[in-house]
Amino acid sequence: MIELGQTTHDAEADARNDDLLIYVNGEIVHKDAAKVSVYDSGFMLGDGMWEGMRLYDGCWAFFDEHMDRLFNSLKSVSLEIDMGPADIRDILNRTAAANGMTGDAHCRLMITRGRKAKPFQHPSLSRFGPTIVAIVEHSKPAENVQAKGIRLATVPQVRGLPTSQDAKFNSHSKLNCVIACLQAEQAGADEALMLDPHGFVNTTNACNFFIVRRGEVWTSTGDYCMNGVTRQKVIDLCRENDIPVREKNYSLYEAYGADEAFLTGTFGAQTPVAEIDGKVIGSTSGAGPMTLRLRALYKALVAADVAAQKTPLI
Ligand SMILES: Cc1ncc(COP(=O)(O)O)c(C=O)c1O
Repeated sequence: MIELGQTTHDAEADARNDDLLIYVNGEIVHKDAAKVSVYDSGFMLGDGMWEGMRLYDGCWAFFDEHMDRLFNSLKSVSLEIDMGPADIRDILNRTAAANGMTGDAHCRLMITRGRKAKPFQHPSLSRFGPTIVAIVEHSKPAENVQAKGIRLATVPQVRGLPTSQDAKFNSHSKLNCVIACLQAEQAGADEALMLDPHGFVNTTNACNFFIVRRGEVWTSTGDYCMNGVTRQKVIDLCRENDIPVREKNYSLYEAYGADEAFLTGTFGAQTPVAEIDGKVIGSTSGAGPMTLRLRALYKALVAADVAAQKTPLI
């Protein structure tokens, strides 16, 4: 077993994050002063939604796609906020500006049902409006993770049916994923590879999962995983560049025998997978040729999106 011991969200150390300024309900304050109530619905119940976005050259990449997902999720759980995407962009821009950031920054925007009148579950007890927090950190994905790849272990915890808690909710409650990650750690891996209720390969605890087999790119049907913005961009890039891509059911048999495997997520873009259940994936260490190609295409797509955001509409 290769000794790596890392996570997909490892970032290079940056001392500036010790004195970060954080947006909390209309104010931008030092991280030591950034606080929410112990009665907050997010703290008490995990009753909230979040988005992770990255800042490139003063723009939040794929902002519209992130807002589509966020507002769809908020509507689905009747979490009303008196704001639209433009207000959210303003919050994020003000927070980034307060921290002197124009790039290499990652935000976690969190919206909960807010402070409750009593410490019980009923949503009607959340009476004081939503809680909105934006943490924007100086962030460069750790080079060793990108270079070496990460080790996955298949875990007993599965992604459930949408009738329990739809995996498309980027909800504050990530207990399903946290349990999966703990199980993977206990199995000696970095992160978890999760199956769906039928036993097909689905996703990891924090990212979407792809394999490359015989020149084709495969990912799950999407029925049980996060509708990742990066996942969709990779699928679209494959289609636009004549790379065969399939959203399909497949088993560990095909994952173990893959030529390459990689994860997708806003933070790490495309992160190579070195091992699954102790089995080495591919013949090269680090990213394989298809992963490298998709990474380059994705980088160009981010640049194009940022350029488009900067071009005024006429
Ligand atoms: C469970 C899970 N899967 C996948 C992703 C990746 O989604 P995206 O590409 O939109 O960052 C996330 C990120 O929020 C996630 O929480």
